[in-house]
Amino acid sequence: MINKHVHDELIQKYRKHFGRDPEVVAYAPGRIEVLGNHTDYNEGFVFSAAINFGTFFAAAKSTSKQCRLVAGDLMKEVTFEANDVTPSKTDTWQNYVKGTFAGLTNQGAAVGFDGMFFGNIPLGSGLSSSAALEMSTGLALAKLYKITVDPVTLAKIGQKAEHTYAGCKCGLLDQISSLAGQEGKLVKTDFRSLVYENVEMGPDACFLMCNTHAKHALVDGAYNRLREACETAAAYFATVLRHPVKALRDVSMAEWALYKGGLPETVANRAAHPIGEDERVLKGAELLASGDLPGFGALMFDSHESSRILFQNSCEELDVVVEAAKKIPGVLGARLSGGGFGGSVVVLVHPRDAETASAALASAYAAKFGKPCDVSVIKPAPGACVL
Ligand code: GLA
Repeated sequence: MINKHVHDELIQKYRKHFGRDPEVVAYAPGRIEVLGNHTDYNEGFVFSAAINFGTFFAAAKSTSKQCRLVAGDLMKEVTFEANDVTPSKTDTWQNYVKGTFAGLTNQGAAVGFDGMFFGNIPLGSGLSSSAALEMSTGLALAKLYKITVDPVTLAKIGQKAEHTYAGCKCGLLDQISSLAGQEGKLVKTDFRSLVYENVEMGPDACFLMCNTHAKHALVDGAYNRLREACETAAAYFATVLRHPVKALRDVSMAEWALYKGGLPETVANRAAHPIGEDERVLKGAELLASGDLPGFGALMFDSHESSRILFQNSCEELDVVVEAAKKIPGVLGARLSGGGFGGSVVVLVHPRDAETASAALASAYAAKFGKPCDVSVIKPAPGACVL
């Protein structure tokens, strides 16, 4: 599922810019989140998939301490010292690479690298272009510097780059999905044990991604506040339930209903979302095992409703796509994917209906907002690798 044109373009750009070939090239895909929203940092469950859009990172060692890093789309270069890796306030894209490099090399290295990244994940689409950049950087630089790193450790290095270099207190979903994808299969992850498995969707399912291009203000701040509300709720349930509660994963919907009265209403509603999502993922696993795709799709619609009402991480653009999807023949389910507040809606559809559903979604969106959303067919794809 690696896009050869994008790869070849990167190599050409690299040669032209640095005057030599890269020593190593790695690739990491973006991801869709299929079911299980904001459950990862609550130690719950998620169905996701690596997708057929991704980022390549090419690198070669330099002979000095200097690191030269180029964003291949803009052909913009930044430089920094290999043993002084600090976050930057300008050209913040470099922070994902810097943070990963710092985590991988334990705060720096004796010699630098000439690196360039380039890919085809639409920016701001909610498909985790930043995790794809971290994971492609991590795999390429681990190979270049001969560092052995297992997938979960690499995912945590990427997550730490987001926390400390980009300021978003994300979970591990995006990084794990990018690493663990398999062609035609979903990734089902338990975010407590960090054990993941690949689950077959069968030939009757495909996904559409509807990129609304909406990105609402204060996105990262809003994400961190939602996370805080979940942690506040978990701390409260730990005081009232008679079994250990480390995270919302340990609270059932029945317990939530009995004890929610001790929480402010908004915090209680925030907590209900990941608790309900965990139950939906477990139910979804049973439905997939029995081949019940319509049942699985219905859970995706429920998930979106829970986001919209309880977690309030949807927005009008996403809601319009999901509502339109409900009325389109052949569509089985639709929901927002990822952090929320904009980005993409992921739609589950039978492959034979993909084309007509895409056109219907784009025109329903255009009827409301004056321009269509971008709809592409997403194929669950293999995870990240060194080429
Ligand atoms: C973003 C974060 C993930 C996860 C999702 C919501 O993509 O990076 O860790 O929390 O939002 O499920």
